[in-house]
Amino acid sequence: MTVLLAAIAAPLSIGVGATVAFWMHRRTRLSPRNAYLVWVVVAGLVVGAAMTRSLEAVAAALAAWLGTTTAAVLGHRWRVAALGAGGELRDYERGRVMAWTALRQRRDGRSTERVYIAGQGELIRERSWPADVRALPMTGDGRALLPLGEGHHQLFVGATGSGKTTSARRVLLARGLSDAKVAVLALDPKGDRGLERDLRAIAAARSRPFVLFDPYDDASDRWNPIWADDPGAVVARLVAPVEADSDSDASHYSRVLRVHLGLVCEALAAAGRWPVPLPTLLRLAQRPRFGKVAALADGEADPDLLERLADHREALQERTTQGQLDGSLRALEVVTGQAWRRVLTPDDRGGVALPAAMAAGAVVLWKTHVEDIKEEAETITTLALADVGAAARTLSDDTEWVLLLDEFGSVLQGRAGARAVALMQRARSSHGQVLISTQSVLDVPSATGNEHLLGALTDNFTGFIAHRQTSPESRDWLAKLLGTREIWQSTDRTSGGRTDGVGSRRRAAEFIVRPDEFRQLRQGEAVVGTTLGPPPARVSVTPGPTPAAAPAPPADDVYRAIASRPLPSADTAHPAESSGALWE
Ligand SMILES: Nc1ncnc2c1ncn2[C@@H]1O[C@H](COP(=O)(O)OP(=O)(O)OP(=O)(O)O)[C@@H](O)[C@H]1O
Ligand SMILES: [Mg+2]
Repeated sequence: MTVLLAAIAAPLSIGVGATVAFWMHRRTRLSPRNAYLVWVVVAGLVVGAAMTRSLEAVAAALAAWLGTTTAAVLGHRWRVAALGAGGELRDYERGRVMAWTALRQRRDGRSTERVYIAGQGELIRERSWPADVRALPMTGDGRALLPLGEGHHQLFVGATGSGKTTSARRVLLARGLSDAKVAVLALDPKGDRGLERDLRAIAAARSRPFVLFDPYDDASDRWNPIWADDPGAVVARLVAPVEADSDSDASHYSRVLRVHLGLVCEALAAAGRWPVPLPTLLRLAQRPRFGKVAALADGEADPDLLERLADHREALQERTTQGQLDGSLRALEVVTGQAWRRVLTPDDRGGVALPAAMAAGAVVLWKTHVEDIKEEAETITTLALADVGAAARTLSDDTEWVLLLDEFGSVLQGRAGARAVALMQRARSSHGQVLISTQSVLDVPSATGNEHLLGALTDNFTGFIAHRQTSPESRDWLAKLLGTREIWQSTDRTSGGRTDGVGSRRRAAEFIVRPDEFRQLRQGEAVVGTTLGPPPARVSVTPGPTPAAAPAPPADDVYRAIASRPLPSADTAHPAESSGALWE
């Protein structure tokens, strides 16, 4: 009888030992030393049982000893293999702990991620979604989460027609239709009908003003980017589109322009004629008019300003300064060139000031028509980014904002890229979230000639939505971005054209998402990855639920009049300016 029991208990015990060892190795952070320790204890029990001379006790102790021996031997083997694997598996193996340490850490709630070893020795780290971050699933059945809210900038990439804007619209709708007060802003170079329809629907559904800036639409709203009382702040924004890198040769040009515009604004302010509409300001900034502008400040300005005006007038006599100023002023005039002039000229309501619009949670759409007026589209984009950044800093804590830069690669030539990086870096403190869509990430270095800009942009994103990509470089870049995993790779030895069952295995790194997968994605399909928790998921994005179309409230409430003393100017139609001979 005892023999029979032993015959059953021995293999059972070995099986249990092997299972426990496997579980400890794959699913826990417990070191095999725990098994060694138990082995020593059980060996002691065997000796103790032998001393009692009870056959049953000895048999039971021996069975237990068999099991723990199996666990200890296997644990040791796997440990040696993991240490030999190198890389993350070795680090993980070295970090294994004794049972009491694991218990203490669990009690302290110190571990926020679950780590285990999956098939092929792949180390999986599962972090749960952070409790304080709202998530939006990109599919109707709740998969592929994207973070919503301040600082969670997202990059949508994909070839034309692959579904970028549709995915971005899903996020905009989720933000815009939420209960919080969220200003929704979008810059659309392509004129995406669906995007405009969604934005209008958001405004109507939430009873918020809808603002449209479109140089080709007679019903366009008027934009007043000169809303600050402080002329210095206005100048910093205006110069943004023509600003050169501080270390480039052209930086001198933008410095001259900054000083010149600054003095023009200060003179107007001193004369009680600030603010003025943007087209007027740029006309007054023409070099030949500086003397007359400076004269306005005579008798009104403090001696310091008068002295600076005189110095600058002197400097303007120099040929080189003249050339530099005229060049950069011409570049700036592109802003108010033919197309955008009307949008930037106030009507009898004034113009929409972004601080007022964003504070009201308005929906604002700029249509920049990059295919027809590329240079204007780039300049206006930069000006808009500068304006949004400045307006965001005026918002109170209960107002959030989200900004979509659709087809950003097409308007990147100028300073827009650097502006976008600056905006994203500061967005968190002003409760902002930026969504950028572009056809290929390589648009960034190729359009701007700035190798570092892509890295600077990338560091700011917490979400990536990658649609179909055609260019191999782009696919490689995305695959690298989403990371690699290390697995055991086995090789088969062949003899006589057949595998002979003998092989070796080695640790190899492979992409979590293979570059080729980005080529195979169908319309609307995307790989969604975040820096926050779950591994990247390949899903078919569900388009956002567009609310029924209804008229949105008019934007009148977010217009701000540009009230100043009349300017003596002959060539303007703005009611705030009366005719006079001074500027002819
Ligand atoms: N998730 C989706 N589900 C179903 N259809 C989709 C999806 N995404 C895109 N589509 C279809 O593909 C078309 C193109 O999508 P979308 O305009 O979003 O692509 P895009 O990448 O922004 O292209 P473009 O370069 O033209 O701006 C849409 O009109 C829509 O019909
Ligand atoms: Mg699009």
